[in-house]
Amino acid sequence: MIDPHGSDSLNSLYVEDEAARQELLSEGESLPSIVISSGAAASAVMLASGYFNPLDGYMSLAEAMGVAADMKLPSGLLWPVPVVNIVPADQLPEGVGPGSRIALRDPNVEGNPVLAIQEIRTIETLSPADRAVVVGQVFGTTDPNHPGVAAFTSMGDTLLSGPVQVLGYSYFRTDFPDTFRTAGEIRGEFEKLGWNTVVAFQTRNPMHRAHEELCRMAQKAVGADGILIHMLLGKLKPGDIPADVRDASIRKMVEVYFPADTVMVTGYGFDMLYAGPREAVLHAVFRQNAGCTHLIVGRDHAGVGDYYGPFDAQTIFDEIPDDALKIEIFRGDHTVWCNDCGEVVMMRDCPHGPDAYVMLSGTKVREMLAAGEPLPTEFARPEVAEILSAYYQEETAA
Ligand code: ADX
Repeated sequence: MIDPHGSDSLNSLYVEDEAARQELLSEGESLPSIVISSGAAASAVMLASGYFNPLDGYMSLAEAMGVAADMKLPSGLLWPVPVVNIVPADQLPEGVGPGSRIALRDPNVEGNPVLAIQEIRTIETLSPADRAVVVGQVFGTTDPNHPGVAAFTSMGDTLLSGPVQVLGYSYFRTDFPDTFRTAGEIRGEFEKLGWNTVVAFQTRNPMHRAHEELCRMAQKAVGADGILIHMLLGKLKPGDIPADVRDASIRKMVEVYFPADTVMVTGYGFDMLYAGPREAVLHAVFRQNAGCTHLIVGRDHAGVGDYYGPFDAQTIFDEIPDDALKIEIFRGDHTVWCNDCGEVVMMRDCPHGPDAYVMLSGTKVREMLAAGEPLPTEFARPEVAEILSAYYQEETAA
């Protein structure tokens, strides 16, 4: 199987041993503690799940700035976005300093239980100037209206670096028991199924016809044994469709339209960054950690609004040295419904022109549903449309 990113074996920061975990949980209750940001909690879950292998915790200011500037850790290893625990200065418990152990409390679970214990290596202030540099490099914009920029900026300015021991998976295990999987669990499943070549599909949307066809085309092109549909289960921007609805519609589509045992539907616990190209590289890193050999990157991957060019998330891979990643990228062209072909096609493979095309996008699907319009079969499978329309009707009635 493909090696994890930057190491021979997968490093998960979840404390597996139950007795040790219980002991740390009780230690956590007596330590100074802080309720962390949703982003930092999601990073803890990614560290616990092996997806952020080989990181051992949250980055220092120098590490975060190095990653932002040239996508490299001090070791030279490729890493595309800062993994940081930034808190408001006034919430830092008194007496905490380098060498202290602190309990990190989960902002997303009632009662804010202890999610992880961090050993503080450094406490540094992220100046407004440094923040602007980091945000500009990672998101390609400092516009506060960008949802990723807004989330990063709202965390505060005190950066706590250091290793973590993670004691839970936040709400992901409990809320998505059939879908949330760690990188190690996915590797284990691939091994059992005998899948060697696996193409991963990242999604934060219910799957429309272009998504479905991209999976099929990529599987065929790379000769994959299977497809891993790997959906984001964490926080999204307002207007995006909740994970349980996406999960149900994706499972239905796979059940009806893909041969049995060729697709694995799973999810990971991370908040969407909307960082476009940089997030695509992160997606590649963590799918390699999950044992995938290929990642589909299509049009405006992980994008939002008009912040990124439609294929920036593909061309960023041209800047990365060949040996920096083992996973390969399947580059999807704009995928549309073609009235002349009577099927979903990639523009680069179709002789017809724009007049024959119906453009397919998650944004368009959401807009139609919100307006109460039925989704035509060019856009979505009827079984998928039914689940999505029911959700929107419930929302409108509420
Ligand atoms: S994302 O934010 O998770 O990337 P989404 O779930 O819509 O959003 O996209 C999943 C994948 O499908 C991404 O690789 C994206 O580039 C690709 N994609 C979505 N729609 C199209 C389309 N019409 N043509 C080509 N690729 C597409």
